[in-house]
Amino acid sequence: MKFISTTRWLGAIAVAFLSTFGTTAEAQSSSRAPSRVVQPCASVTPQTCTLANSLGRGINLGNMLEAPREGDWGVKLDPAYIDKVAGAFTTVRLPVRWSNHAAPTADARIDEAFAARVDQAVDALLAKNMVVIINVHHYSQLSGDSLHPNEFAVDPAVLETRLLNMWKQIAARYRDRSPRLIFELLNEPHGRLDGEPWNQLAKQTLEVVRATNPNRTVIIGPGGWNAVGELPKLRLPADRNLIVSIHNYDPFPFTHQGIEFLAKPHPVGATCCNESERKAIADALETARRWSQANGYPLHLGEFGAYEKADMKSRETYTRIVRDEAERRGIGWTYWEFASSFGVYSPKTGAWVEPIRRALLD
Ligand code: BGC
Repeated sequence: MKFISTTRWLGAIAVAFLSTFGTTAEAQSSSRAPSRVVQPCASVTPQTCTLANSLGRGINLGNMLEAPREGDWGVKLDPAYIDKVAGAFTTVRLPVRWSNHAAPTADARIDEAFAARVDQAVDALLAKNMVVIINVHHYSQLSGDSLHPNEFAVDPAVLETRLLNMWKQIAARYRDRSPRLIFELLNEPHGRLDGEPWNQLAKQTLEVVRATNPNRTVIIGPGGWNAVGELPKLRLPADRNLIVSIHNYDPFPFTHQGIEFLAKPHPVGATCCNESERKAIADALETARRWSQANGYPLHLGEFGAYEKADMKSRETYTRIVRDEAERRGIGWTYWEFASSFGVYSPKTGAWVEPIRRALLD
């Protein structure tokens, strides 16, 4: 196995040290203080490189605007959450289920009241100086999944055209927003999109976005639900403002134990993380880093997290390991998610879920 060079490694240790203990005046003033780990950027513009390296610590405002209807999954986007996340994180990923708020026909005309709701969130977060990622999330039929309750079906012949037409509207709508607003073309492409179909569709979708947003930073992830193992199959369009997203929920039987939405739920009781589990987490991120180095695109870890049915001590351990392994490679992350069943914040108690909060931020 090839290891990162000694300089990078020392830098990585320094980042881990500084993020654990804070940037002391001593460390800041020392000319020998190793520099922060920066990600490979050979294939992107300085603008996108800087943005990728400033994503830092982030959070998904999940289960809100990507539920079939806001509130269906038990949480709504409370304006008070904006202050909470802005006080703690640099970046917010805002998953949005546009497909269920758009005409079922090929034109996919987006419902204006819903779009205005998304505007409110985007603008409030940008006003707090955050980096904001909006996506198309849970367009279930596009990947060949069965529908969620309250999600409507469309004619299979218009699935792809609807994606393009949704992006035409989203991109035009936000064309004048800050460059800190990033578009992510599709959450976790998988199933019927895996491989070449996604490469083709991502290219077409990016062309639509580029008609109104020639330089905005766009996130594209590989198939297999944004799996690291699918990176070699990702053929990116010729474009210098791209960041590549990966998701990682390993060890899956631990992070997804007791989840009702899986066809075959994993039993509750799995703990984390023994030596081989730690190594699997580190190896996946190292594989991704090597791909990034070889291809010149910076990465973002868009999702990781563990469900509330896992024991809290293990969730804390897992969360800290993933965060540390990402940060030592300079990879920004957005934890899945803020205030629902993987949450770092409890709407019931109005307080942070302290073990998860400290694993992410202390
Ligand atoms: C999905 C969520 C799910 C999470 C973990 C996300 O991409 O949107 O519904 O809870 O992954 O599986």
